[in-house]
Amino acid sequence: MKALILAAGKGTRLFPATKSTPKPLMPLAGKATLNYIIDEILKSGISNIGIVVSKDNYDQIFKFIKDNYSDIEINLIVQNKQLGVAHAVKISKEYIKNDDFILYLGDNLFENGIINLVKKFSKSKNNIISLKSVEDPRRFGVAEIDDKGILVRITEKPKVPKSNFAVTGIYAFKNIVFEFIDKISISERGEYEITDAIKLLIKFNNVESIINNGWWIDTGSHNDYLLANKFMIIESNNKNLSTNKDFFCYRNTKLIDSEIIKYSSIGKDVVIENSKIENCVILDQSKIKNYHLINCILSKNTTLINDNIHIKILENKII
Ligand code: G1P
Repeated sequence: MKALILAAGKGTRLFPATKSTPKPLMPLAGKATLNYIIDEILKSGISNIGIVVSKDNYDQIFKFIKDNYSDIEINLIVQNKQLGVAHAVKISKEYIKNDDFILYLGDNLFENGIINLVKKFSKSKNNIISLKSVEDPRRFGVAEIDDKGILVRITEKPKVPKSNFAVTGIYAFKNIVFEFIDKISISERGEYEITDAIKLLIKFNNVESIINNGWWIDTGSHNDYLLANKFMIIESNNKNLSTNKDFFCYRNTKLIDSEIIKYSSIGKDVVIENSKIENCVILDQSKIKNYHLINCILSKNTTLINDNIHIKILENKII
């Protein structure tokens, strides 16, 4: 079994931070988002991993893989045009060959990883979709299931959802899915939707579901990205009780008369003077003076110097 991670998205909702740091490499508690995803895949026992990247983020992701996973077989597949999830899968056929695979949308994180999905899939002859019950599933694919958990219908971003089961960003596919992907056409939003391929799969054979009861975050938006950072700080505290802190900071961070409040992450070589940082992610090499930042994301190498001695407050900004 292989795993395919989709990491070619532009991350526009996190602009300008994702202009210098590709979304999959955006840090959460000191580790790249992609680190968490690859580690979860390895934990599930899969060690043959493909990552779909874009022309723009290829170099940075290539370097990240070389620096962090040189002992593992990771293949990068370049998607020249972002034409949707099903398109990304289609161009990966040469890498997947005749294997079955886990598809992992690279901006999703799950409390419980993919171990349960992989276990269930290894024993099943069917495709499996991971679902989570959410209050308002309108911005997701929505699935209706029967009492055995078999998918009856799936609809992409319905205006009036028929169930609360959102399709999360992990799927377990048998190789046959490629035949159905070949049959779909482009959707109204200009993408080849994986949901359309699943609709055809449902007609052909049983598509099972697995219900996810832990947290699930799509890290692509401002608030959810900060929430993912918070969860990762809490998680690393749970693992490392001796260093219990409600923020993450590199050792070489220069803090001068400043305070870091929960749940912030501060990158490498950052200097913070006379400032208060609250629930923010500050990327590497940034400099901050005389600011109170709340719920902000600072791009790599940002200089935020306020020469007025009065502290300036900035809230809910990506800079
Ligand atoms: C995609 C899928 C959708 C799924 C979502 C999960 O949507 O098309 O069915 O619920 O991922 O994050 P997109 O993020 O492309 O809007």
